[in-house]
Amino acid sequence: MTKQLIISVSDIPIGAKKRFEVGGNNVTVYHLQDGWFALDDTCTHKGASLSEGQIIDGEMIECPWHGARFDIKTGEVKSLPAVHGLKTYQVVIEGEEVSVEIDDDCCKDKETPDGCCGGQCGCDL
Ligand code: FES
Repeated sequence: MTKQLIISVSDIPIGAKKRFEVGGNNVTVYHLQDGWFALDDTCTHKGASLSEGQIIDGEMIECPWHGARFDIKTGEVKSLPAVHGLKTYQVVIEGEEVSVEIDDDCCKDKETPDGCCGGQCGCDL
């Protein structure tokens, strides 16, 4: 099932980020010079909240616990100790409205490194 987060463009200034809880998912929405992006908030290393980290060079988020860095546009790991990337979500801007599609189809088995069962639960990956 897909859930939708809707906020206003005025909620997050350029260069800032904000965490939201949507249907059990913690998602951080970033407003960069290059646009809007949304990623899982939980660091794939040991679970820190990335919304408490620093935005580096306007394109990476640095984990506040051990310093892993992730590309905000792609979720890709840019530096250790994390080795798994972050899930990204589609962001659509319409006028003053920012909507984020939260795909909730997976069981979100927390035993796996990236928070996804890989289809083993029978979910629609
Ligand atoms: S919890 Fe993020 S780098 Fe360790």
